Amino acid sequence: MTEQQEPQAPADDALQAPDSSGVAQEAGDELTNAERAILAAAQAATTATTELTMAANPLRDPRDRRLPRVAGPCVLVLFGVTGDLAKRKLLPAIYDLGNRGLLPPGFSLVGFARRDWAHEDFAQVTYEAVKEHARTPFREEVWKQLSEGIHFCPGEFGDDGAFDVLAMMLREIDETRGTGGNYAFYLSVPPKFFPLVIEQLKRTNLAKGPDGSWRRVVIEKPFGHDLKSAQELNAITSAVFPESSVFRIDHYLGKETVQNILALRFANTLYEPIWNRGYVDHVQITMAEDIGIGGRAGYYDGIGAARDVIQNHLLQLLALVAMEDPTSFDADALRREKEKVLRAVKLPADLATGTARGQYVRGWQGGEPVVGYLEEQGISSDSATETYAAVKLEVANRRWAGVPFYLRTGKRLSRRMTEVAIVFQRAPHLPFSKDDTEILGHNALVIRVQPDEGITVRFGSKVPGTAMEVRDVNMDFAYGESFMESSPEAYERLLLDVLIGDPPLFPHQREVELSWNILDPIEEFWASQGQPEGYASGSWGPASADAMLARDGRAWRRL
Ligand code: BG6
Repeated sequence: MTEQQEPQAPADDALQAPDSSGVAQEAGDELTNAERAILAAAQAATTATTELTMAANPLRDPRDRRLPRVAGPCVLVLFGVTGDLAKRKLLPAIYDLGNRGLLPPGFSLVGFARRDWAHEDFAQVTYEAVKEHARTPFREEVWKQLSEGIHFCPGEFGDDGAFDVLAMMLREIDETRGTGGNYAFYLSVPPKFFPLVIEQLKRTNLAKGPDGSWRRVVIEKPFGHDLKSAQELNAITSAVFPESSVFRIDHYLGKETVQNILALRFANTLYEPIWNRGYVDHVQITMAEDIGIGGRAGYYDGIGAARDVIQNHLLQLLALVAMEDPTSFDADALRREKEKVLRAVKLPADLATGTARGQYVRGWQGGEPVVGYLEEQGISSDSATETYAAVKLEVANRRWAGVPFYLRTGKRLSRRMTEVAIVFQRAPHLPFSKDDTEILGHNALVIRVQPDEGITVRFGSKVPGTAMEVRDVNMDFAYGESFMESSPEAYERLLLDVLIGDPPLFPHQREVELSWNILDPIEEFWASQGQPEGYASGSWGPASADAMLARDGRAWRRL
């Protein structure tokens, strides 16, 4: 998305895709014979895949031979390797990047956790995670090369000795694997540990490398639980790392379909003229999940749906939909426009009617009975945490004044589905018989974030026949059909951006604070309201959420 993301010359020693002539790039003098063999195999595989895709896909411009963005020499230090995120997303994403030829041969991964593991044990854990969750096919030679760079450092976050060992280990890795003192520290740990880890990185001088090297810290949400705690957390981080080295992960920004909102709006002329209060009736942003809280009671209880996903994912989606065009796609320009939107967000005058929250009770999901939130393991029987949240917001500026943005999210809803629907006003006049247009709805443009990624345009069309009957029809764009390849996982994209040092897809602290500014009064209001309304698992949420739209003469889209 930035100029940096335009075709770049890959680092000399990268495991690379073929160049425009199809001839393998020079991989540098540092490679062993084994590495050269792996490189050649990876190049052959990439060439084959690329050619197959190009040949098979008529929509792909055969002149598109852009070189991939590849990471230079570096080490990724992962705190929290025993967590679910590491297993399901991060470790597989690292493999997928390696498999796509986007990591350098010397790339090294260091796991840090409170486990009595040797390097081989962590390598085995990584292997299993890759086998189970990687997006791309397993290739022995890629795994072999990756596994040679896998290390483990046992210890607790408060243990000075363990961090001294980590510092030593990293120096050794630099010497043996040519990683050049470039380290990314990924904190996939509960936020209460952030200060400890960051303090340790400072104490061991790991936060700042020698000239010519880089150090970056990656923080997973939640970035605090309100404005004040987010500011405190930032104060701790920014005392040690400059803002340019802090990468805050909001994995929704790594999703192809979310980035495509920018392409849709700013690479085309079709939509922008009608993308405003003159034509748009309202916007609906839905993130529905069919899962419950699973084993995440410790994280989720007391946090709830709004802090978990509205503060970050849904407000980021709103910002991308509502923002003005950035002057360029570099991080500053993009963030500036998103910030303007977040600053312009206005809460409903009456939070009782302009918001809704719920908590799932027992019900049925996929033909199976499921327990209610209060019966989930680790949840106290009087928890007032919401598992469903809906809010009505306005973006008070010239483009959007008066257009409601309805945001909703919930667990244990009928199905998993994230979408942004731009719902247009009705035609001001219909020159047809009223009977013939009775069931005509609003035109809508629906960005399907997941699953079934794509875009639908809904509009009225004449029903074949002798009468002038008009009905709604859908025109569909599906990623799978147009591009014929699976999109990278959000974490693949974001991890690569961290290693390259490309920040546009990472929210700035100002965006985080502006989002808390929006949410804090809502949370405060809810805290005074006692128990959330129950909704049956497998349903579409509490009745109060439907009532919220009904009062405006509207309804949630049926998904
Ligand atoms: C996370 C939330 O940020 O996003 C989870 O903490 C949620 O509660 C998850 O389940 C959903 O992500 P995705 O990519 O499956 O929509």
